[in-house]
Amino acid sequence: VLTLATGASAQTFPDRAITMVVPYAAGGPTDTVARLVADAMSRNLGGRIVVENISGAGGTLGAGRVAKADPNGYTLLLNHIGQATAPTLYPNAPYDSQAAFEPIGLIADVPMTMVSRPDLPPKTLAELIDYARKNKDKITYANAGPGTASHLCGMLFMNLTGLDVTTVPYKGTGPAMIDLIGGQVDFMCDQTTNTTSYIRADKVKVYATTTATRLPTLPQVPSAAESGVPDLSLSIWHGLYAPKGTPAPVVEKLQKSLLAALEDPQVKERFKELGALVVPPGEVTPAALKAKLAAEITRWHTVLGSDRSARN
Ligand code: MLT
Repeated sequence: VLTLATGASAQTFPDRAITMVVPYAAGGPTDTVARLVADAMSRNLGGRIVVENISGAGGTLGAGRVAKADPNGYTLLLNHIGQATAPTLYPNAPYDSQAAFEPIGLIADVPMTMVSRPDLPPKTLAELIDYARKNKDKITYANAGPGTASHLCGMLFMNLTGLDVTTVPYKGTGPAMIDLIGGQVDFMCDQTTNTTSYIRADKVKVYATTTATRLPTLPQVPSAAESGVPDLSLSIWHGLYAPKGTPAPVVEKLQKSLLAALEDPQVKERFKELGALVVPPGEVTPAALKAKLAAEITRWHTVLGSDRSARN
């Protein structure tokens, strides 16, 4: 009976709205990726996908909610590198980043940019480092909480420059960006899926990209490498997950839908405009996401496990 039911449910799937959980606040980079993907998937699946932001604890509240959801394909998690840092930084989280999920596929890689409130005096990354050093008791760095992309970039930056400034955690870099533009916080490293439009509108000052070479979408922005901090290199990968136990035919249907969404020329173009790179079709698979997640959990356990600042 179960097989029959599963089989039948897979054939009729989806027959109601799907929830795609983003474990960070609305308006941030992950939210932007999710809405792009959800919109394209709902078109090719012929069903609605509603994005729900469940933020807090560096993304582990939202991920935990999906881990406990009915494994029927109607609740999904779109998460980024945070899925791989949680095992180290949130050892008491009520779920296992790998065992509690069915990986569906990788999505896109997103570079980051170091930005500040528009009236911060420094003009280059080197000047920002010098300014931060001279104002270390005043200057504040915004991030989305321990384990998030903005946290990892800030930690890397501070390790590489010997800086140790106050960090202000937000529920996502959507809200952090509002405070940065408003001057309530001084600088932040965030993904181009969020910062590109603000940089182009001169609402924030930009210093460098966390890439070896300049981004075609921000040709006027020096790379970290040419700014004298070549090891400030970070690209944020994203994956789509369902709860463990979601029937294989349903996972397969979701994987095919995600692949079709990422092959859509308009979706590819939109990601490109945001400085992001959609992964090749061969990586939009459960096996590729499973392997990436396992490798990244090991990588960040090594980096974070030995880093005092990792917990703030
Ligand atoms: C991050 O730093 O990981 C992002 O800010 C999360 C988000 O807000 O999308």
